[in-house]
Amino acid sequence: MTTAVDFPKDFLFGTSSSAYQIEGAVNEGVSGERRFHLCVKDVFIKKQKYSDVFSVRSAKDIPKEYINRVKLVGYSKGSIIFKVVDKIVDKLTSVADADIACDSYHKTDVDVALLKELGVQVYRFSLSWSRILPTGYDHEPNGEAIQHYQDFIDKLLANNIQPLVTMYHCDLPQVLQEAGGWTNNFMIGCFSSYARFLFKTFGDKVKLWTTINEPRLVSEGYGGIYGLAPFDHDLGATYSGIGDYLSIHNMLLAHAVAYRIYEKDFKPTQNGGVSICPDTTWAFPNDGNNENDKKASELVLQHYVGMFIEPLVTGEFPKIVLESIKDTNERKKFSTWRLVPFTDEEKKLLIGAYDFMAFNYYRALRVTMMSEDKIKDETDLKKIDQRIEIVGDYADPSIPIDDYNGFYNILTWLSKKCKKDTKFIICENGLKDIDNPLITAEVKTKSKIEYHRGILVELSKAIKDGINVFGYCVWSFMDSYEWIMGYKDKFGIYEVDFENPDRPRTKKGCFNFFNKLFQDKKLPVDST
Ligand code: NOJ
Repeated sequence: MTTAVDFPKDFLFGTSSSAYQIEGAVNEGVSGERRFHLCVKDVFIKKQKYSDVFSVRSAKDIPKEYINRVKLVGYSKGSIIFKVVDKIVDKLTSVADADIACDSYHKTDVDVALLKELGVQVYRFSLSWSRILPTGYDHEPNGEAIQHYQDFIDKLLANNIQPLVTMYHCDLPQVLQEAGGWTNNFMIGCFSSYARFLFKTFGDKVKLWTTINEPRLVSEGYGGIYGLAPFDHDLGATYSGIGDYLSIHNMLLAHAVAYRIYEKDFKPTQNGGVSICPDTTWAFPNDGNNENDKKASELVLQHYVGMFIEPLVTGEFPKIVLESIKDTNERKKFSTWRLVPFTDEEKKLLIGAYDFMAFNYYRALRVTMMSEDKIKDETDLKKIDQRIEIVGDYADPSIPIDDYNGFYNILTWLSKKCKKDTKFIICENGLKDIDNPLITAEVKTKSKIEYHRGILVELSKAIKDGINVFGYCVWSFMDSYEWIMGYKDKFGIYEVDFENPDRPRTKKGCFNFFNKLFQDKKLPVDST
């Protein structure tokens, strides 16, 4: 039996989504010849979908699901080419694309009505860069897409729902990817002119902006992580510990330049705020008394989160990250600078470049240090830099991890790191439905509620400690396109029937819990 927990009266409760994951309408709103508002994810996914040939550097890199199902077909550019002999067609994952998704591009009235019914005060969604600027650049904006978003924002405001807008959520215009994407520092200019365009076009109504969603995850796609765009097996090379760092460097500067544009040219009249939106996790040492395990947890914290926060506080990357990279370079006789420090000019742009701090949180980890033997054999530079072994994560329930405490720890850590009096908002926190037909809907609902309750109790503790948290968004508003997992992973408060061309939405069992929480701003007593 727990007691009820109150949240401040002006606290913003809401839900979140992203354009690519819900909108569909993949070819709409683009006129004339400019029909290429494909984004990186789109091209990547379609390639996965239609291709049964892929290349890897060594046989041990064959994705798990293809082991025993591949035939060697040749060698190219230092890599081995395989053909999948029986590519399985799993309707929910491998052939799933986001061409229609939840069809939200056509259902703004329905979606706003559902948000209203749910009782949210804030809705966190993203704008599609490739839809708004189909050439990738800002010289030929797409009027139809702009009108679409203007109308949507107006509908939210008419229903007292505050828009919290992400400028870029994994859907880079393909044309920019072809120029190297985030590994090319030319992206700093592209992103900041896109940001200026958004402030100019929507800034009279949007007061809460985040620039880049989960930049760490974006960077992993440039480091060769399987399943994350734009990683391309055909390249026959992996850029782990190279492409990822380059893209982090450029994304941070792109964020900072966008922030400075807002600060100078828009904030004085628009009075809103801008933040970046990193993903966060807390890593517990496997053995709390073991110094090596403690160091491993610090490495995770700094590699995963500190990399995006420290530069905005001091203009530098975290010391422990720089030291670990230096050490890897010495061990592997690698003399190229992989994580380029910021210049003095860049530091000035970065330091303090946020009006509030937005972040996502899902799960905590349990970690230990990689053994010396393993480091010797490892060829992946980033893995050596991070030097950690994940002992437990959410995929392995046999090793329990206190995710709730992890959330409290990361929030406390952030509040100590960031500027005094920084306000925080959680843009995403969620739990996917248990994917097991033998488990009843009631049990699924119960575990979802239990998870959010656990996080919210810690959140309210942090607020009582004096940390200024002003909002919390549940991922997600409705079931949606879950990237490499297609439509299999379901996080929604509303369920979507993806077999039905109308994509009807229905309330899930957890609806009442969230509806009441959002309206009362109170976690009711748990009598279970
Ligand atoms: C974080 C990402 O921002 C979002 O796109 C994704 O769907 C959720 N995590 C759940 O995996």
